[in-house]
Amino acid sequence: MMVGNDRVEFRFTKRMSAIAHVESLSDTQRVLPDGLAHLTLLEYLRDIGLTGTKLGCGEGGCGACTVMVSHYNEVLKKCVHYAVNACLAPLYSVEGMHIITVEGVGNRKTGLHPVQESLARSHGSQCGFCTPGFIMSMYALLRSSELPPTEEQIEECLAGNLCRCTGYRPIIDAFQVFAKTDDAFYTNTSSSDLQSGEFLCPSTGKPCSCKSKSLNGAETCKKSTANENKYEPVSYSEVDGSTYTDKELIFPPELLLRKLTPLYLNGFGGLKWFRPLKIQHLLELKAKFPDAKLVVGNTEVGIEMRLKRIQYKVLISVAHVPELNVLHVKDDGLEIGAAVRLTELLQMFRKVVNKRAAHETSSSSPISDLNPLWMAAGAKFQIIDCKGNIRTIMAENFFLGYRKVDLTSGEILLSIFLPWTRPFEYVKEFKQAHRRDDDIAIVNAGMRVFLEEKGEDLVVSDALIVYGGVAPLSLSAVKTKEFVIGKNWDQELLQGALKFLEIDIFLKEDAPGGMVEFRKSLTLSFFFKFFLWVSQQICMKKSTGIPLSYLSATQPFQRPSIMGNQDYEIRKHGTSVGSPEIHLSSRLQVTGEAEYADDTPMPSNGLHAALVLSRKPHAKILSIDDSEAKSSPGFAGIFLAKDVPGDNHIGPITHDEELFATQYVTCVGQVIGVVVADTHENAKLAAAKVVIEYEELPAILSIQEAVDAKSFHPNSEKCLKKGDVDLCFQSGQCDKIIDGEVHVGGQEHFYLEPQSSLVWTMDSGSEVHMISSTQAPQKHQKYVAEVLGLPMSKVVCKTKRIGGGFGGKETRSAFIAAAASVPSYLLNRSVKLTLDRDVDMMITGQRHTFLGKYKVGFTKEGRLLALDLEIYNNAGNSLDLSLSVLERAMFHSDNVYEIPNIRIRGRVCFTNFPSHTAFRGFGGPQGMLIAENWIQKIAVELNKNPEEIREINFQGEGSILHYSQQLQYCTLGQLWNELKLSSDLLRAREDAKQFNLQNRWKKRGIAMVPTKFGISFTTKFMNQPMYGVCVAKKKSEVGVSLVKKLAMGIGCGADNPLPSMVARLLLHHIMVVAPLVEMMANCHGPGVAVGVNADLSR
Ligand SMILES: Cc1cc2nc3c(=O)[nH]c(=O)nc-3n(C[C@H](O)[C@H](O)[C@H](O)COP(=O)(O)OP(=O)(O)OC[C@H]3O[C@@H](n4cnc5c(N)ncnc54)[C@H](O)[C@@H]3O)c2cc1C
Ligand code: FES
Ligand code: FES
Repeated sequence: MMVGNDRVEFRFTKRMSAIAHVESLSDTQRVLPDGLAHLTLLEYLRDIGLTGTKLGCGEGGCGACTVMVSHYNEVLKKCVHYAVNACLAPLYSVEGMHIITVEGVGNRKTGLHPVQESLARSHGSQCGFCTPGFIMSMYALLRSSELPPTEEQIEECLAGNLCRCTGYRPIIDAFQVFAKTDDAFYTNTSSSDLQSGEFLCPSTGKPCSCKSKSLNGAETCKKSTANENKYEPVSYSEVDGSTYTDKELIFPPELLLRKLTPLYLNGFGGLKWFRPLKIQHLLELKAKFPDAKLVVGNTEVGIEMRLKRIQYKVLISVAHVPELNVLHVKDDGLEIGAAVRLTELLQMFRKVVNKRAAHETSSSSPISDLNPLWMAAGAKFQIIDCKGNIRTIMAENFFLGYRKVDLTSGEILLSIFLPWTRPFEYVKEFKQAHRRDDDIAIVNAGMRVFLEEKGEDLVVSDALIVYGGVAPLSLSAVKTKEFVIGKNWDQELLQGALKFLEIDIFLKEDAPGGMVEFRKSLTLSFFFKFFLWVSQQICMKKSTGIPLSYLSATQPFQRPSIMGNQDYEIRKHGTSVGSPEIHLSSRLQVTGEAEYADDTPMPSNGLHAALVLSRKPHAKILSIDDSEAKSSPGFAGIFLAKDVPGDNHIGPITHDEELFATQYVTCVGQVIGVVVADTHENAKLAAAKVVIEYEELPAILSIQEAVDAKSFHPNSEKCLKKGDVDLCFQSGQCDKIIDGEVHVGGQEHFYLEPQSSLVWTMDSGSEVHMISSTQAPQKHQKYVAEVLGLPMSKVVCKTKRIGGGFGGKETRSAFIAAAASVPSYLLNRSVKLTLDRDVDMMITGQRHTFLGKYKVGFTKEGRLLALDLEIYNNAGNSLDLSLSVLERAMFHSDNVYEIPNIRIRGRVCFTNFPSHTAFRGFGGPQGMLIAENWIQKIAVELNKNPEEIREINFQGEGSILHYSQQLQYCTLGQLWNELKLSSDLLRAREDAKQFNLQNRWKKRGIAMVPTKFGISFTTKFMNQPMYGVCVAKKKSEVGVSLVKKLAMGIGCGADNPLPSMVARLLLHHIMVVAPLVEMMANCHGPGVAVGVNADLSR
């Protein structure tokens, strides 16, 4: 290569195509054409019709898009398999590789894979949207494991997969049958038949190309002690009885023979994609394109490009450059190439820790975020420039500012050198995140101290204390370091260091990221833990001691394997009613064959839609300039309020919302218009180009602000009363009266399947049809009919299934369908609108936040006498269902307690947030939570256990509630006593007390809390059930062929009871269909435990 001022000779030959093997049993080799560098693997898979792989979040956070990628590793001389989040993997990053999607694992026609069968049989799916991802993570683990995995490895491999409906117990149960199991479960090939050195794949049970050592399946299947009905993996296909292994996909031999070549491919908007295979090539490219982004896993670059809409022009995949993949154990430390995968690094650490002297690897844990740890551990970064010159810099000096490092545009990171630690040198990592797996830290830290023995003392000779999450860059506590150096490692050092840390780590009250007090306390507590941990290490060598009760601060969190137990009684009635049947969709879900709204193929002239959204919480719209959007690629139209053919006003009860904002916007994310274009990306691009000028107005952003400003939705004041509260407080009957405030936070629905609607017209636009992901198809029918000015009879909404809803798709899905229907109707073309996760979270509202202000009077024994409660919910910018949610919270404000005098006043607050909506419990949980808060306060006030206060106040048979209902069949007392006994509450409390006495820094607690929940809608006509049964006759055979029902099945089991019931009567094959608005009128959505139960009870 030559690099000159005006001449660059470039060695990459442009390939017009690349290949990858995508397996879906019928599909195999795929030629990847040039021009797709902007696509992720997921987009490509779904575009070619492999829709079993789902798009949940698009940012690597949920695992719904997991696929298995395999390639032949030249160094290891074997195939390596790993699970990959296809939503972030660039398409061309899998060039020359073998991709197995859920379709390639097994299906209903040819037979399910044992992993699929096991998950279906153990009831491990509900809505099923997450299910293909779980299957693929487990499948990849089995394929990549040389030995059958342990239970811990199985749980770890699922850490990146989220499920919002099922709960993880049945999923773990289903997969743990593969832990340490015998190969005979998978195959009828006896392991003794294998020639020595051959590797038996734990998944296929066949000798496989992984070429690892032979596996003797000597270990036996672990049986759960918790669940006697443990499911066992199946080794044969239930379709034709053949052994499953006959169908297992192997690594394509042609890929074994294929040599990787450098790649130069293109993408949308002039994007260039390079895959150099030599460092020299990489450096040439960096010289030619100094602004090029280097890509390894793309988990950062991908998010920047997708979510932050940063347009990079040149991407260089460095994953295959050997010099960047070195992993060398050297005499003085470990050299780690800049592109080494964390998994490989972890494996290496595990090996090294066992082989090296203990003092050399005092920190081996890579679990924490790495930058503070590199710095603290004294790592050195090797940097190479375009001319091949290498310089070394201490990690401590590498990070310069927010996303700024000491690299010039011509330089790249070559490797990291991690030195071994010395005797009396200790390094430790710390991380606090919202959850333990796969989560960004709130604060993290890396700390190192090197102690020297001076006589009897241990004196600090060197130290480094580095924090992440407290500043724009990893921050070294310089003053603390200076203070500790030269000091004895003792209490005095600890106290002094804590003071200096407060100076070093200074967080302003308005520091980005919030939680300032918490983050401050973390910085101190991390150092405290470090001090104790080092002291403990020293204790092992010297005989100085730390109190036993302090040790819990140094013990890392250990998560025991998940174990769960479900007890239920099977009371069969007739054929199948009462038996725990596998739900009807589960086998479709585990194979990826179950179709969701976005899986519906687009007609050839279909358009994609993107919303134009408000960026201000409250503002007047001054102007809308769509000129740039109109010249955007693939643009097909923009539609604003003026274009709505019918009524622009929408709402489930009160029509107080605008479909497209006209003069004012009242929240960030309010819909102003919709843009349609030929692709989803082009629609988003064009929508982003619409320029809106605003005049900002004051916004109300909390319940308290709304209360202060008297900002309430009209006619939303409610009051419920029993007895005379004021008289009771004045009468002197109450020994004590306390008051307080409770703030209950909101919650994102996070249904795994984002909102989606596909709308099309028929008969030249005289009918409008749609497939929507909704809990309430009839609301879609109504909204769309109204905004288009059509009679409802001309609008049809179908919903086969949805990937979770939890209330978030009851009303807040309808405006999305309505928005898509406008361009569809006006252009007479199909329009699909599927929201990206970030947009979905921004615009569709959440669980209501609540504020409760209470005054409660009681006797000295704790018996309740009077409750005066003011309760407010944050409705956001439209009423939606907020009044009903408020009412339900008011109904549940007594929880299960007898209160002779009660007054509850409720208001619905108007704030400048997107409209909040139904959410599991529908206000009930918030009302109960407020009640349990004052119960707890009474207990503290009277120095009693809360359970004592609860028990003496229980409602019972015949109690009259504050909304005049009389309790019947009240089993509360009986249930409470049985549970108290079976859980051995008193003993568990005593155990917790003893634990707390013995542990200064780790505490345990236990509580027993009752609830009651009112079943039924308070709007009485909504409690109507409805179903239709079609009877088919074929010769002498009579059977039910179709069951139509009112309840929307979301995997909660709504689909099962009906066929069970009908089968009992007519014994035939049945197809259950979701609410068909064209056949059944007034199909309102299910809720408040009313759905199929109401149907069945008639
Ligand atoms: C769901 C999710 C969870 C996460 N959780 C955590 C977490 O718990 N803790 C944590 O610390 N991080 C977390 N992250 C962030 C993640 O660790 C980083 O995104 C990741 O380490 C970047 O690696 P990559 O190979 O995917 O990066 P890429 O996106 O491929 O590259 C990252 C950056 O490094 C540059 N680069 C790559 N190679 C070189 C080189 N040789 N020389 C110079 N520059 C180079 C790239 O140009 C780019 O700017 C999470 C990310 C996701 C998506
Ligand atoms: S992780 Fe890819 S869609 Fe969520
Ligand atoms: S079944 Fe897992 S998200 Fe619904």
